[in-house]
Amino acid sequence: MTTAFLVLGSLLSLRGALALDNGLGLTPAMGWNSWNLFACNINEDIIKDMADAIVEKGLDKLGYVYVNVDDCWQESRDEDGFIVEDKKGFPHGMKALGEYIHDQGLLFGTYSSAGTYTCQYRPGSLHYETEDAVAYAMQEVDYLKLDNCYNEGMSDREGTIYRYAKMRDALNATGRPMLYSLCNWGEAKSWEYSRDIGNSWRTTGDICDNFDFYTCSAMSILDQQIDIVQYSAPGGFNDIDMLEVGNGGMTMTEYRTHFSAWCALKSPLLLGNDLRELTDDVMEIIGNEEVIAINQDTLGESARLMERKGGVDVWAGPLANGDRVLLVINRGKKAADYDVDLGLIGADREGKNGPSKVKARDLWKKKDIGVFKDEISFKNIASHDSRMLRISSASKKPFKDLVYPSTEKFKRYIYLIPNPSWKWPLIACGVVLGGALVWVGYKVYTAVAPRQGYIFLK
Ligand code: GLA
Repeated sequence: MTTAFLVLGSLLSLRGALALDNGLGLTPAMGWNSWNLFACNINEDIIKDMADAIVEKGLDKLGYVYVNVDDCWQESRDEDGFIVEDKKGFPHGMKALGEYIHDQGLLFGTYSSAGTYTCQYRPGSLHYETEDAVAYAMQEVDYLKLDNCYNEGMSDREGTIYRYAKMRDALNATGRPMLYSLCNWGEAKSWEYSRDIGNSWRTTGDICDNFDFYTCSAMSILDQQIDIVQYSAPGGFNDIDMLEVGNGGMTMTEYRTHFSAWCALKSPLLLGNDLRELTDDVMEIIGNEEVIAINQDTLGESARLMERKGGVDVWAGPLANGDRVLLVINRGKKAADYDVDLGLIGADREGKNGPSKVKARDLWKKKDIGVFKDEISFKNIASHDSRMLRISSASKKPFKDLVYPSTEKFKRYIYLIPNPSWKWPLIACGVVLGGALVWVGYKVYTAVAPRQGYIFLK
């Protein structure tokens, strides 16, 4: 290890990389990550099981090729500064695990933090970028997620760029292309400066398995993207966090909407559920090739929010072959009808500057639903359900360029509770506060009532 370190270390000083130079991430990454379901309770058997399941269920053929170990595989650093793996969970070490994953024809992802510790207080990479990058290259790692915990207060723009670029340069210097996923939760507006550093960058805090109640819910995360979707493009994508599909906190309808949105917005698609117990309804969602094709479209441009009326959101975006993707989400509590004016996606009623007629395909029904002029009327979209269409010109005229509305005008939803784990403390506070109010009310009443001549029951 030490010799390899010296050789690669000297390469680092020779090359002096200034920009991310790995040729990866031309479309959003797809795979599986251990965090959303297992958190710190991982070991090499679980990871191997997931790799096996990916192949058995044909998920690799759909594009899910990265098998990413998240936090908690590390234990300490040795005297040369290299990470020692957690012996209990990973007795054969990360190199052996990577080999196993590669033998299945899959790619191997690992995790660290651009801080002195990871978020679960394992050794982090700050000040050890070269050692860690060299170790990853030796373990034949293909993907690195770099978290943001214990960052020594360097969380402003300058500090963030410094920390994440140090690892970028160390990765570049190894000569092994590793997809580099920045996980700084959108701090210091990560989307504005991360394209030169990584292949994806988180834009928000962690997701939770909830549709629209918490600040960490799927719909809240979607809302946090409204002004920044334009930063995604081949080579670097906004990462709106890993998928919760199949983890049990949402209905299948809600999971379908969650998945549709992640695909339309070109987020990395990292499954976070137990692939050993994949049910048919979950497979129908994560296995829909036509929806995945929207995510993996080579143009790499995110859909944008075009309209928001009466609890219904209309997102639309361009695709590489000139088609459009249209995603209509009913966020309301009741079923809704909604008419989408085709001008929104670049059709032209007169047929002068764009097609007057379009062909539409429903990507969830996997059916062509007809030729439309002027508008498409959606009937009875159930609460939290969505319609996702691929729309093409029905004439020789291509679509006009999309005209994006100012996002200022959209009514913003407010999410008060950041995280489900806050629910019980908040309820407890509410009960205590309510009790205190009742007590004060009682005291005031008993003091005032007799003087006012009210009848008071004692
Ligand atoms: C942070 C990240 C998560 C996960 C955990 C692991 O919260 O944002 O995605 O990696 O750390 O500790």
